[in-house]
Amino acid sequence: MQASKLMTLFEDQLKDILWAEKELIKSIPKMISLASSVELIEALTTTLEQTKEQISRLAQVFRTIETKPSTVKCDAMAGLIAEATEMLEDCEKGPLCDASIISAAQKIEHYEIATYGTLRELAETMELIDAAKLLEKSLKEEKSADKMLTGIAREFVNLDAASLKA
Ligand SMILES: [Fe+2]
Repeated sequence: MQASKLMTLFEDQLKDILWAEKELIKSIPKMISLASSVELIEALTTTLEQTKEQISRLAQVFRTIETKPSTVKCDAMAGLIAEATEMLEDCEKGPLCDASIISAAQKIEHYEIATYGTLRELAETMELIDAAKLLEKSLKEEKSADKMLTGIAREFVNLDAASLKA
């Protein structure tokens, strides 16, 4: 049946983003510990808090479809986190390291925006109104986190990084 196949896709994507959010709970504190800009530290701290809320929101979404929350490894997010880890491995604290953190964090945000956007659309198509509302909330948070990172790069980090000699 068409509808149940779409529901399977919906559930698979939910498991994927739940895995991703749980991994981010471990990765964001590492980024915070390497950041220097007060604004960046604040933004990442907010993101960490939002990530915890998004995990419980996902549990709520699973509840709306009467399914137990579970995860499936998200290779894309695993790859983004592995790249971030590699890039930040030898980074010396300062504006260039902050610019690298923003670069990694924005790639992660965009993956999350794509996934929550898809999930919301799927929920709307299947007329899962409550699920769609919950997913929309997380989508908005991810979008504003991305915007905040662009703002910090533009206002605080990139100009300082640009003045560093190669
Ligand atoms: Fe998130």
